[in-house]
Amino acid sequence: MHLVLLGPPGVGKGTQGLRLAQHFRSPHISTGNMLRDAVAKGTPLGQKVRSIMDLGGLVPDDVMIGVVGDRLAESDVRAGFVLDGFPRTVPQAEALDGILSKNGLGVDRAVVIDAPIEVIVSRLSGRRVCTVCARTYHVQNDPPRSPGQCDDGHGELIQREDDREDVTRDRISLYARLTAPLVDFYRKKGLMLKVAGEGPQDEVFDHIVRSLAGAGVV
Ligand code: AP5
Repeated sequence: MHLVLLGPPGVGKGTQGLRLAQHFRSPHISTGNMLRDAVAKGTPLGQKVRSIMDLGGLVPDDVMIGVVGDRLAESDVRAGFVLDGFPRTVPQAEALDGILSKNGLGVDRAVVIDAPIEVIVSRLSGRRVCTVCARTYHVQNDPPRSPGQCDDGHGELIQREDDREDVTRDRISLYARLTAPLVDFYRKKGLMLKVAGEGPQDEVFDHIVRSLAGAGVV
């Protein structure tokens, strides 16, 4: 199944994306993780996008379409994927359709996870991320066993630069302006599934899996 995850920053796309990818045995393709990896390695892409990401802006469409196009050219995506963080604009969604259709594929469902703004702000302000494996924690909802240390023994937990309160506000308003229109884009195609994201992680996961089963796509 070729699944797109949509929703505002901090709603839980990465958390659910990882679980769904394990559940469906598909690759979890997170553009945020791909870009953060490029920044950490100091590649030309990383150097280009670093300041945009730190300030909570969007990387230009042509750059993102190139990055995702290259990833989707790999053979492991033929049977399915969980795409998290892309598309984020209507031109990206149109480009995704073009890339997939060349291989006789298409998006099967776009799952939109939503939650009230106060839930999103609290999730972003409490998020901590492992510097080595990118595993995500939350200081209250999903704390590590030892404060500041990844449970998998990989590395130190840090706060993302773009989780600062002022940047968070900008990311949320950018989402409303440029990404929320994608909900209509997929609704008109009959591919949109909306899921409430404010409950505990297990509950949100069950809801997504049940919605997909109810829609007859799994
Ligand atoms: P990206 O990493 O995709 O950021 P985002 O969309 O803003 O999403 P987040 O990673 O902030 O949140 P999430 O929804 O994944 O939540 P999470 O699961 O971590 O992109 C970063 C940047 O890269 C962008 O700002 C942009 O600059 C650039 N970029 C990426 N793709 C791009 C594109 N296509 N075009 C242009 N630019 C692009 O959860 C958040 C917290 O809540 C965690 O602490 C978690 O533990 C906790 N939590 C999750 N679920 C629950 C729950 N059910 N109950 C309690 N706590 C929960």
